[in-house]
Amino acid sequence: MKPISKDVIDKVLADKDIIDIGKATIRQCVNVAQELEQISGEKFIHLEFGIPGLDACEIGIQAQKTALDEGVASAYPPASGVKELKALGSKFIKAFINADIRAEGIIPTVGSMQGCYNLLLECSQLKKGKNVILYFNPGFPSHYLQAKVLGLESRSFDLHDFRGEKLRGKLKEMLSDGRVCALLYSNPNNPSWCCLSDDELRIVGEMCEKHDVIALEDMAYLCMDFRKDLSHPFRAPFQPTVAHYTDNYVMMISASKIFSYAGERVAIVAISDKLFHRFYPDLQERYGIGKFGDNFCLTYLYVNSSGCSHSAQCALASMFKASLEGKYDFVGAVKEYGMRAGRAKDIFMKHHFHLVYEKDQDGEIGDGFFFTVAYDDLNCTSLILNMMRCGISTITLTSTRSEAIGLRVCMSMMNSEADFQTLDDRLATFEGVMEREYHDEYIRATL
Ligand SMILES: Cc1ncc(COP(=O)(O)O)c(C=O)c1O
Repeated sequence: MKPISKDVIDKVLADKDIIDIGKATIRQCVNVAQELEQISGEKFIHLEFGIPGLDACEIGIQAQKTALDEGVASAYPPASGVKELKALGSKFIKAFINADIRAEGIIPTVGSMQGCYNLLLECSQLKKGKNVILYFNPGFPSHYLQAKVLGLESRSFDLHDFRGEKLRGKLKEMLSDGRVCALLYSNPNNPSWCCLSDDELRIVGEMCEKHDVIALEDMAYLCMDFRKDLSHPFRAPFQPTVAHYTDNYVMMISASKIFSYAGERVAIVAISDKLFHRFYPDLQERYGIGKFGDNFCLTYLYVNSSGCSHSAQCALASMFKASLEGKYDFVGAVKEYGMRAGRAKDIFMKHHFHLVYEKDQDGEIGDGFFFTVAYDDLNCTSLILNMMRCGISTITLTSTRSEAIGLRVCMSMMNSEADFQTLDDRLATFEGVMEREYHDEYIRATL
């Protein structure tokens, strides 16, 4: 395609009240891309969407249909989840994470999004004066927005400046005033795809114990560090977790990516046995229920959605069962993202982009659902804008609270040979634009 002119993009941005596309949300970027698709008549390469790019797991679909046929649609599910899902969730965690959590602590939510929102709220109400959320940057943009919507104060730092043992000192600095109630991170990380090591998770766990902070461990991309084979149930290596180093934790495991089941909005939160039963006087005073786990279901989830879809819970139970029995290889199914990332990275490199988050401690970053790129010394706004002009839609790292300059690239929509060919062609067009327009500007500016 021919590059879209700057004037056309400026007009679209003005119409949508976007002052700086470099700071726009995913939804805003999608809207701009869709408008430009209409104007140019060309389909864009969508690298901004973090949606599953594979078919939903058939085992779940069949189980959900059966459950509906059997009449679950008319019955409210129990507030804390259907019995089978709770038991199988607990076993699934043992099989792939090697952590022990009793079935009572496994609670289904309407996606991890709902789980996380309510966990942030609950954690902020456990003790008066202890209500700040700590994030590792960069992160999933919606996590930041959740704290904002809830009116919660937050603090954060770029994990990449504090890898390994350095993390201890930084956490000490961030937690010492006692105001942080919860620490939220995804592992593997959206967007950098860095993975916290066992040594780092030990530090996180020890610091959470010391400062009475709850680790909220988002495992949306469970077992997707493809550098290791995490696909065998009940056999090492396992997905690393903070659960081995503290009892102050809650995991979130979403069906959206591991089973490509995003449309049914189902996930579990898994609360450690000890935290589930921990009594908080402030909760008792406010809601008449003092225990963390009971409050999560009977107070927060109850007023929020009163549980999650009955048939989707049956679907998730069946997918957990098939996986832990070795009848369904969910890791093998999503490995496809790693292969797409390997190919796409090569194409970006061919066109002289570089990886932003390139190292994962001492090793190379793995290939997975996301990676991050930048071009020369172009700033975030120029980068995303010029990519848009060439029919490629992304989001900037600014929206992930990264201080690095660059873009997040998601592999979910790269699902055909033609997509890779188009990506190659469009990046060649991008390079042409850079050479013509930016080189000329540079010459003008330096004359
Ligand atoms: C880190 C992370 N957590 C949670 C989610 C959303 O999960 P769910 O669809 O279960 O709400 C996403 C989706 O992109 C994500 O990247």
